[in-house]
Amino acid sequence: MRVAFAQTHPQYGEVDENLERTLSILERSRADLIVFPEMCLTGYNFESRRKLLEISEEIPGKATEEWTEVCREENKYLVAGVSEREGRRLYNSAVLVGPNGLIGKYRKTHLFHREKELFLPGDTGFRVFDLGSVRVGLMICFDWIFPEAARTLALKGADLIAHPANLVLPYCQGAMITRSIENRIYTVTANRIGREGSLEFTGMSQITSPKGEILARASREREEVREVKIDPREARDKKITDNNDVLKDRRPEFYEV
Ligand code: ACM
Repeated sequence: MRVAFAQTHPQYGEVDENLERTLSILERSRADLIVFPEMCLTGYNFESRRKLLEISEEIPGKATEEWTEVCREENKYLVAGVSEREGRRLYNSAVLVGPNGLIGKYRKTHLFHREKELFLPGDTGFRVFDLGSVRVGLMICFDWIFPEAARTLALKGADLIAHPANLVLPYCQGAMITRSIENRIYTVTANRIGREGSLEFTGMSQITSPKGEILARASREREEVREVKIDPREARDKKITDNNDVLKDRRPEFYEV
């Protein structure tokens, strides 16, 4: 199967324009699963919660319906980061959409920096969805710094982590290689580019293999869609030597939670 990231440059506050851009990328991509960045419809760096509330999406809602139409026509799947409105509450969420509509959503567990002034902490927990050919786990951006996030998704059976991001620190792309190795899992990090106020986003979206190979990596400054072929069976073999299995060899009785 083919998976892709779409590294985009969301325009601040321009939801219709940003949605159109994702739809046209989705239509043109040949990938079976394509991952878009965190908050890919609204932009990221909001001073005011009120402004973000006005332009946030219900899930399901207009965006998930429009994405579903293209997924149905093209028989494909999409993961995208969305600022989710539920009543007057806001969550930093990711949706998984397929040919039959919304499959599920994840609300970001670990909020980064000023996100704590905008969003409630996610209450869904880490989720894995079985698409038949691949089991997809969801996490969002700063969740990367907590190894427990990827580990939990691996323990729940994910073959691949779809990871919408708006990265501003320089560490994540390197860390995701380790997340892949320590869980023997594919990762697809879809980051954004551009600048909003004092924040500069780092691009370099990437796809890693269960052996920690970088299968694709984007530039820092251009919009890019990159697609690779993966074999989910590679992520189901957790053996690192004939005598070691990265999940079965764990000794949780000695770990602090
Ligand atoms: C981040 O979690 N958006 C850095």
